[in-house]
Order: sequence, then C-alpha cells, then structure tokens
Amino acid sequence: MNRPLDGKVMIVTGANSGIGEGIAREAAAQGAAVVIDWVTNGEATDKIVSDIAEAGGTASGFQADVSKVDQLAALIDFAVSDYGRLDVMVNNAGVEIGQTTADLTEDRYDFLMGINLKGAVFGTKLASDQMRKQGDGGVIINTSSVHEDWPMPSDLAYCVSKGGIRMLTRTAGVELGQYGIRVVGIGPGAIDTPINADDTPEETEALRRAIPLGYIGKPAEMGRVACFVASDAASYITATTIFADGGLMQKPGAV
Ligand code: BGC
Repeated sequence: MNRPLDGKVMIVTGANSGIGEGIAREAAAQGAAVVIDWVTNGEATDKIVSDIAEAGGTASGFQADVSKVDQLAALIDFAVSDYGRLDVMVNNAGVEIGQTTADLTEDRYDFLMGINLKGAVFGTKLASDQMRKQGDGGVIINTSSVHEDWPMPSDLAYCVSKGGIRMLTRTAGVELGQYGIRVVGIGPGAIDTPINADDTPEETEALRRAIPLGYIGKPAEMGRVACFVASDAASYITATTIFADGGLMQKPGAV
C-alpha cells in the first residue's frame, strides 16, 4: 500500500525530543527517509533511529547546531549524499528562555534567536537552494506557535522569534511559489514536551483548563499535522500557518 510520504527525504531539526521527535517518528511511519538533527543527548537520537529501523523505516541521526550556518549546510549535504535529494525541510529546533522585557539579557536573546529564527531562516535558504537545484519543488515546514500572533508576556524573545517565523513563512512562501516550493508554518499550542518541563503542576493544570479540547496536545498529534502539510494532500497550501492548538488561541487571557 502506498503511504503519503513514500520516497520523500525529510530533515527534521531538533528531532530527538518533543515535537520534532513526533514529526520524525510519524514521517518515517508514513514512508519518508528521515534525517534526525540533534545537538545534545545522542542516546535519545540512537533510540529513535533504532525504533524506526525496527519498524521497517529509514532514519539516521546527524549532529548540527542550526544556529551555525556551516553546520546547517553540512546537515543538508548529509541528507543529499546519503539519500540522494531533499524533499521536505522541517525547521523545528526551538528553545524558550522565560525572560520578560525587564529580565532580558543580550546573551540569552542571541542564543534563542540563533536557534529559533536564524536557524529557520537559513534552513529555509539552504533547503530551497537545494530544492531549486533539483528542479521539482519541495516543502519547507516551520514549527511556529500560537505565539506567532499571540503575546506571552513571560517570554519576549520567544514571541519575537515566532513572529519572525510567521513572516519567514509568508515571505519565503511568496518568493518560492514559482519553483513549486511550498513554505508552511505549523502553529502548536501547549504540547507535552520538554519545553514546558519547568512548569509547576499548578501551571500545567491552569494551562490544561484553558484549552477548549481539555488536554495538552501530544507530539504525535503535531507529527500528523506536519506530515499532512508535507504530503501531496496539502498541494495548495503555502505561505500560511496551520494552527493545531486545541482551540487555545481563541481564549484571550489564557496565558
Ligand atoms: C510554548 C509553551 C506554551 C504554549 C501555549 C508554546 O509555544 O512553547 O511554553 O505553553 O505555547 O501558550
């Protein structure tokens, strides 16, 4: 039976935990050959690669810090030399620093922006350079957030980075449409990942209660959204963000 991502080569950045892991596992299950980019915790990468191989899928890990353009270039070269091409680039790596305007420091700002925004901008540039060379289109997916639109006063830099992702998706989507390259954001709400590991049980419960669907989302649910966007079923979607937040964004004051 044909699966939606059979024959596609996908890179997922920040893919050995959280939403990236959910995307990598689902994409492999749907037939893609997946390159799992990671920075720390090589054992977690090995486990995902071996789980995928055991299930009959194809995946490999590659260590690259997306805030460094030469490492991003090496990541793309690895995918192309191992699997022959690049069909889907998922700029997913991201961090939160939890600094308000009052707390913000230059080094934490540079750290966050390097990963969340510079990494996605140059991931988009380098992936689309490769896709244009191939000449038959491609898909670039940017993991955004409800906070591309919705202020979260506990983390100024994070919201600024996601606002940047919003315009990256729209601007690159408009530019690259002529090459058949689609650029799409996915906009998660609160998802059960290490990014929220420092939340107190009370904060987690308040968040859960704010979500119209009544639960914190699962990485696998984001994986299914990303795979839909990556597939030909989403052939007419570009330069926009698909939100998957259990309705959270429609409740002003929830965060
Ligand atoms: C953030 C989470 C937050 C969620 C909902 C995500 O983008 O990473 O920390 O709980 O948005 O506000």
